[in-house]
Amino acid sequence: MNKCSCRENIFRTVNLRKFYPQTQSFALRDLSFTVTKGEFVGIKGPSGSGKSTLLYLLAGLLKPTSGEIYFQEKPLEIVKNKALYRRNNIGFVFQDFYLYPRFTALENMLFPSLYQFSLPASTIKKAEMYLEYLNIREKINSRVETLSAGERQRVCIARALLHEPQCILADEPTGNLDSGNAKNTLGLLQKINEEHKTTILLVTHDDMVSHYARRIVRIIDGNLYNG
Ligand SMILES: Nc1ncnc2c1ncn2[C@@H]1O[C@H](COP(=O)(O)OP(=O)(O)OP(=O)(O)O)[C@@H](O)[C@H]1O
Ligand SMILES: [Mg+2]
Repeated sequence: MNKCSCRENIFRTVNLRKFYPQTQSFALRDLSFTVTKGEFVGIKGPSGSGKSTLLYLLAGLLKPTSGEIYFQEKPLEIVKNKALYRRNNIGFVFQDFYLYPRFTALENMLFPSLYQFSLPASTIKKAEMYLEYLNIREKINSRVETLSAGERQRVCIARALLHEPQCILADEPTGNLDSGNAKNTLGLLQKINEEHKTTILLVTHDDMVSHYARRIVRIIDGNLYNG
């Protein structure tokens, strides 16, 4: 690979393997995958094929059993502070949301910023704007435990977008949404991708994704296939 194309890579994995001792199984097997800056990649594949595992590995939330992960051509392995790596580079939309039920939609969105002594008003304005885009502006001060699954999902998406990360890893972000809200969410991700050149990796079972993502890959039994 020449140096010029390397500089464009945002993620690159080489022979990535993940073995879960609990289930004595490989979730990923020798998966090699390159994503260039600004791509919008849809990741499809059957349940249990390793899609979430791949996103967790790229986000530094899990360690590979073997193989390498590079972020902007730097080995992720040598990044000591993975939380800082995520905060600076990645917005993660979790398949299982991971929201704090007792706190409001807005508070959940702001938690990642709480290390700052004072939150700029512009951050709160931006939070309102994303909730508006996702049609849940009116739920901003509602406790998450009172929201429907689809509303929680949209809070989770808004949280990931708030800091305008250069890369969004979205795990089934439309899984609980009706088709109108799913279209709207995919449209928002497409707009962010086009306007900000944000790299997007989107795991989904939704066939609509082929209208939005510019590349579709499939994970089957822990291996990746193009198209
Ligand atoms: N924490 C874990 N401990 C043990 N095994 C796990 C764990 N997480 C995932 N696995 C196993 O790894 C395999 C891949 O799981 P993963 O969650 O990555 O699949 P997926 O493609 O995201 O599935 P889905 O479409 O249902 O979300 C599955 O066989 C699963 O049982
Ligand atoms: Mg999954």
